[in-house]
Amino acid sequence: MAILVTGGLGYIGSHTVVELLHNDFDVVIVDDLSNSEKFILDNIEKVSGKRPAFYPFDLKRRELIKQLLDAHQIDGCINFAAFKAVGESQEKPLDYYENNLFTLVNLLQEFKERNISNFIFSSSCTVYGQADQQPIDENTPLKLPESSYGKTKQMGEEILKDFATAYQKRVSLLRYFNPIGAHSTALLGELPIGIPNNLVPYVTQTAAGIREKLSIWGNDYPTADGTAIRDYIYVVDLAKAHVKALQKLMATEEDTKIDIYNLGTGNGSSVLEVVRAFENANQVKVPYQICERRAGDITVAYANPAKAEKELGWKAETTLEEALRTTWEWQKYLETRS
Ligand code: NAD
Ligand code: WQD
Repeated sequence: MAILVTGGLGYIGSHTVVELLHNDFDVVIVDDLSNSEKFILDNIEKVSGKRPAFYPFDLKRRELIKQLLDAHQIDGCINFAAFKAVGESQEKPLDYYENNLFTLVNLLQEFKERNISNFIFSSSCTVYGQADQQPIDENTPLKLPESSYGKTKQMGEEILKDFATAYQKRVSLLRYFNPIGAHSTALLGELPIGIPNNLVPYVTQTAAGIREKLSIWGNDYPTADGTAIRDYIYVVDLAKAHVKALQKLMATEEDTKIDIYNLGTGNGSSVLEVVRAFENANQVKVPYQICERRAGDITVAYANPAKAEKELGWKAETTLEEALRTTWEWQKYLETRS
């Protein structure tokens, strides 16, 4: 079984490639290296003992997708390739629509023509916005996200529902909460380019002395310690969920299938709890200051992951501290490379 993994040298993609290889899938990676680096392919090989086929193609170019599908018999696709910076998407919305949606449609056009099914899409809890109730299950009403990035996720879901219905295809929409951590070998992890926007990369760089102090965006939220709450899920746990979701799609006898799963731990952690967990896990200090709230931020979001547990036999197993330990080991590895 050969699986096309787009964005397979990226953060979540590279961990998922390793899990697919462990489960005896053949993997073909497409990644234009716009937010990743070639050494990740070498490290995938070090971790798994296998080197997947790799194409540095930009998926906006449909003729390259054709070329690749002529060369490989593909049984399914996990589509990670996208731009993901929320703030940047507000400044360059058309780049986000082009990169996140044209690429998706290009892939689906080729899959439609070649009779390929089994498509997994990286969606996000951002499609729920500030939900009226916690925890968030899959029936929670969606809200139009504020950011153009978030809109590409909601639109991507709709495109895939239409694709499945019109062409009798099987799709799985995976709504990630907040992925964190790195591979236990410290050979794979997130590569934040420039100043990180996300909490854990910023905390890590602050502990490493690259940033002077963390700005905590608001301590006047209606939560126990006043800081905002999220569901931080370990990236390897998340990667394993993709394999389960794919196996389920492939095992189904129905031609048309639309699966939707929330992938989180089910536990909410505040910003201050993450900072303390990082300090405890790694015995380092994370200097911080309290600042005004960040525009567009929500107060709280954590998953009800019961559907994924029941239908996929999957649940997150790694604690926040364990995940944050791997982040620190990855940071130390990156320092040996620079
Ligand atoms: P990432 O940036 O590390 O990985 C995406 C990869 O896709 C990168 O390696 C990039 O080079 C590649 N890529 C981008 N555009 C491409 C194109 N046109 N052609 C070929 N390759 C291209 O991001 P990630 O954190 O691994 O996220 C993976 C997916 O999960 C994305 O779709 C993202 O929106 C989604 N997601 C991420 C998070 C998160 O917090 N990391 C949360 C929810 C959803
Ligand atoms: C987490 C908490 C911040 C940085 C974003 C996207 C979302 C999804 C995940 C892809 C918030 C606080 C952060 C800092 C801070 N991505 N924080 N100081 O906001 O839940 O979601 O990433 O789909 O779409 O919007 O994640 O890591 O940016 O922030 O205090 O320097 O940490 O205010 O409360 P968020 P995050």
